[in-house]
Amino acid sequence: MSFSKKTIRDIDLKGKRVLLRVDYNVPLDDDGHITDDYRIRKSLPTLKYLLKQGAAVIVCSHLGRPDGKRDEKYSLRPCAERLSQLLNKPVQFLDDCIGDTVSAAVKNLAPGKIVMLQNVRFYAQEEANDEQFARTLASYADVFVQDAFGVVHHPAVSVSELPKYLPGVAGLLVEKEVDTITNVMDKPERPLMAIIGGAKISDKIEILNRFIDIADFVAVGGAMANTFLLAEGIQIGKSRAEPDDVPLAKEIIKKARAKAKRQRFVFYLPQDGVVATSLDKTAHTRIADWDAHIIASIENYPKQAPRRTEHVLSDELILDIGPFSGAFIAGGMQLANTVVWNGAMGVTETPAISGPVGPFAHGTELMVDAMLGEYGHKPFTVLGGGDTVGFIEERQLTSCFNHVSTGGGASMELMSGKKLPGVEALLAKDQ
Ligand code: 3PG
Repeated sequence: MSFSKKTIRDIDLKGKRVLLRVDYNVPLDDDGHITDDYRIRKSLPTLKYLLKQGAAVIVCSHLGRPDGKRDEKYSLRPCAERLSQLLNKPVQFLDDCIGDTVSAAVKNLAPGKIVMLQNVRFYAQEEANDEQFARTLASYADVFVQDAFGVVHHPAVSVSELPKYLPGVAGLLVEKEVDTITNVMDKPERPLMAIIGGAKISDKIEILNRFIDIADFVAVGGAMANTFLLAEGIQIGKSRAEPDDVPLAKEIIKKARAKAKRQRFVFYLPQDGVVATSLDKTAHTRIADWDAHIIASIENYPKQAPRRTEHVLSDELILDIGPFSGAFIAGGMQLANTVVWNGAMGVTETPAISGPVGPFAHGTELMVDAMLGEYGHKPFTVLGGGDTVGFIEERQLTSCFNHVSTGGGASMELMSGKKLPGVEALLAKDQ
């Protein structure tokens, strides 16, 4: 265990009033129904532990980005109801964070009881780190428990300020997230493979650099790969890319190649892709192989394939990694003992015309199969990033991976080696 902060296991909770910060920033449909309660379920071990120890719990969270104003569509009421169902226990919802009703309810809260405050981001003071707001919330409790891993990277009253006014300790989710991710980055069971996808290089520059430093194999996919291909002088047609990031991509490629000269290391960019002229489920797709693995085309055998099969044409978009690239990465994974995955390989949102897999989701599905041991070897798997986690949750595969992070930005910052203000603010183990 590398977690250096005090947790709820390290303190006496009997008869204490606990202000518990959770991350119930869950997706809701247009009617306000929760479409995925993963984050609520992940908070249960801490809640159950607190109740078992005889604490009274005041739950506090944000939902969405209401910009410091009350907005009913971001009400936490549905989360209070879902929490009550999951715990099989009443959870009293207080429709505010401050005021007489709230003060009275929290003052008289008996051990074993739970109340939930309204969305803390209905107050602009939350993200302005307002001292008075922090003091008011702190007056509700004896102890502050931080279990909202998804927000620990953003300073705010309920993240970095409350521990200034109350003894602050970590909940079991924050402990597990920080511990697992830190261990994988600091002392992974090697070979360590990182699969990084997503849209922009500039969003993931730090994590890419860190993995080039520490991993044995780094594979890049998603729209981000297009910018790297552009940097390599490969035609990408009208694929999504960030031309401004080409110099950055060149630097990363240079760094990766220098490492590969010094030691066993693979930096892998897709060699082929699924292309189409539009991002449409009915669009005609084909495989473009810009690394020219095609020796002959079936129609022209034994003549060499016409060039158009190799290149992405000017009106085409790369929408997924191709079969050769997928097989190469999945093959590499058979040698890896740890795999960290962040970001899809293609456009996974486009629905399928028939069957379960969308036309541009095959590369990502292949990665999932390989990570889950479909081809013989099952590495230790850590997943981070909102889209990646959403993809896995939709398929109800979350429990099949070793660690699926509840934090998108927070897991990336931790993987990049950054300090997390919400964790830093808590009491040290030896304090
Ligand atoms: C998340 O969904 O990543 C967290 O809840 C943080 O949300 P935020 O990006 O709005 O701070």
